[in-house]
Formats: sequence, C-alpha cells, structure tokens
Amino acid sequence: MTALDLNTGATAPVTDEIDLVDLPVAGTIPQELNGVLVRNGPNPLRGHFEGNDVLSWWPEDAMLHAISFQEGRVTSYRNRWARTQRWARVHAPDIARSLLDTNPNVNVLHHAGEILALAEGGAPLAMTAELDFLGATRRHMGLAGGMTAHPKVDPQTGELMAFRAHWERPWLRYGVTDSEGMQRVDIEIDLSSPSMMHDMAITATYSILLDLSVTYDFSMLARGYRMPLRWHDDRKSRLGVIPRHGGEMRWFDVTPCFILHVVNAYDANESTIVLDAVRYPEGFRLARSGAGFEDSPLGFLWRYVIDLDKGTVTEKQLDDAGIELPRINEGRTGRPYRYLYAAEQPTNTEIRGVVRYDLEGGAKQRFRVPEGDQNSEPIFVPQPTASDEDDGWLLVCVYRRATDTSDLVILDGRNIASDPIATVRLPRRIPAGFHGAWLPKIG
Ligand SMILES: [Fe+2]
Repeated sequence: MTALDLNTGATAPVTDEIDLVDLPVAGTIPQELNGVLVRNGPNPLRGHFEGNDVLSWWPEDAMLHAISFQEGRVTSYRNRWARTQRWARVHAPDIARSLLDTNPNVNVLHHAGEILALAEGGAPLAMTAELDFLGATRRHMGLAGGMTAHPKVDPQTGELMAFRAHWERPWLRYGVTDSEGMQRVDIEIDLSSPSMMHDMAITATYSILLDLSVTYDFSMLARGYRMPLRWHDDRKSRLGVIPRHGGEMRWFDVTPCFILHVVNAYDANESTIVLDAVRYPEGFRLARSGAGFEDSPLGFLWRYVIDLDKGTVTEKQLDDAGIELPRINEGRTGRPYRYLYAAEQPTNTEIRGVVRYDLEGGAKQRFRVPEGDQNSEPIFVPQPTASDEDDGWLLVCVYRRATDTSDLVILDGRNIASDPIATVRLPRRIPAGFHGAWLPKIG
C-alpha cells in the first residue's frame, strides 16, 4: 500500500482546541442556512500519527469541529476532543473513571432530540451542537452498549435502524429504535464468524446488512498491524435482507467485494430492492511482502438489484469515477431518489473534488479542487422550504495546501460546477476526517 504521510498536509492533526468568532466570508451566506455543521474525525491526543497507512488513521482520538451559521453570518468555529477516558488519561487523569470508555471519531447523529458522536461499534457519546459532551446517551438506552457509526433514520417514521458488529459473541445484532429513542427491535443475527461491517442501508420495509470479504484476522496484531482487518479470498460476500421489524434474514451471494459506504436503497416494487453503494473489487489485501497491504483499487458507484422472488442479485457499475463518502438529501433515505454527491478520488491517496450524479437524467457535475488541495465529505443541507430533492446547499471543507488552512465552501446543490455561493475562510486547517452532520437551529 502506498505510504501515507499522515503528519503533514490535509491529515496532519491539530494540537489544541480553539474558539473563533465572526469568521471572514467571501460571497453571501444564505439567510436560511441557520444551524451548526459538525464534523468528526481522528486527531491523536499525542499530536502525531504513528504508522503510515489508512488503518493507522482510522482508530485515532475523536476530535469534533463545529461551524455555526446564523442569519447570513458565520458566528463561530470551535474544535474539541471528545471527552472520553482516552482524553482524560492525557488531560484530566483524576476524572478519567467518570467518563465513557469509547472513541466516537466517525460520525454525528441527531435523533430523538439527542446529538450523539458515534464510534465504530463502541458506545455513542451524547453532546451538544456547541461541542459540550454529556456522557452516555440518555435517550437511546438500547444502543448505549455500542452501535454502528452509520445507522439509518427513516425520514417518514423517524425510526432508527442500526446494527452492532463485534469480534466477540454475539457477532451481530440488529435493531430498530423508535422516533423517541426507545428500542423496539433487538435481534441477534447468526453468522459463522465475525464480520467487519461499517455501513448499512434501509428501504421503507427492509434493512440491508453487508457481510463482505474484509474481516478480522487477529494474528495480524502480533505482526505489528494496528487493526486486525484484511481481505479474505476464502470468504464470500453477501447482502443480508431482513424485514425492518424482524423476520427471516435472507442472504444473497454477490461477487466478492468490499463496501465501506452505501449511498441509498429503496423498494422498487414489492419484490425488488435497489441498493447503490461505493464498491471496491477488493481491499486491505495483505502485501505479498509480508508487511502492510497491497494498494487498494478505487471504489466506484455500483447498483445492486435484489429480486426477492427469484432470489437473485444483478450487479452493475454505474460510473467510472473513483469516489468515496457519498451523501444524499436525507429526506430520501430508504426511498427512491435521484441525486447523490460524493467526494472524488482521482487516486487512492487523494480525496479531491466533488461529483454530483443525476441518476435519472444521467448528467454528472463536478466541483473541482486544485491538485495539492484536498476536501472532505460533501454534506447536503436542504432548503427549509424546498420541494425539489436537490434544492439546497452542499457544504464541503477544502484544505488549501499553500496556506495550510481550510475553507468551508458552500455550493448550490443544483449546480455544484458553478462558483461557490460563499466561502468561509478559516485561519487554520480542519484536518481530513470522516463524517459530519448539519444540525439545524430549532425555533
Ligand atoms: Fe463511514
């Protein structure tokens, strides 16, 4: 695997927590953009990464960044490490035992009146949009023991579908939490061995879990790997389809692959499910040299069509742009949808550019980012009064190499190729990270 220099450029950690007010803006911030953009990611407490591959990046300490918008102004920016036992062992040892033992560095969820920083399988950490940390969840007690960082919320019912994949038994649980935070379904799913699952999909009636060909190999720990994950040629790739509120889990074999992130899924009719995802033909294959990994190929947009009557899956590549970190208008989660946005990967060591797909019309737009700069996941914020799916804004953090700072770029969701509507200029970088959420101001 090509070595990554995680300690310079876009991924380099910041070493302190700051608060800024009234940030400079070029262009005009939309008056209706009222709320906070929160972004999560790994930022080692010791100030530098150890190791030089993506599995050295993923497990580091959670740091969150919050940019607040109010009536046409960007009122503040702040960054905070998540207040966990890991943080306290460095900064406040006396209170470490009172904090959660988790590392919620992957995603941010707003559900049932609670904001949660989400970990890869670990306990979620309750927080505010201002990055004050509140400890264990108080409203999602069924998920307090650990959950995926990519649960899915049904925009019509408010239900939250989630799973917990674990390397200890039980290896997989699936559940549904209602719109108030009460767990209504909690099922153990039978697997022959633990599986590395990162994301899931929902339709209006089914949930879809991914049991693919990247999974655990604990013997790797003794050989110096920081995370015991690798590609297994002898492991099938399967899509699991379960009725939302429980019932028979049906597994459908697919061509061996690895999927980190799904785009969306929906019921095309009573017996047909469409699942779109960023698919890799393989990933994390151990290097033949015995150290590190082979270079992973790029991930592309693929469509799986699952025929529940015939028990078949058709697989089709939809485009040839390397992409990751796909997002949609979340009002369409689990429903037929037309538009998706994703970060572009011109090479497997760069996240540079944004692509917008029109899955009905076929048109593709690009927001281009200059060589040397890098960008984050594009987050779609719907216009509060919009009826069209793509009527809204796309928020993208762009790292500028020349100044070692980050801009937050606001694009028109209908036309991302045109000049940004506004650019917020931060005086320093927001390091490359994983996922974020738009938390609209209530009231
Ligand atoms: Fe993710």
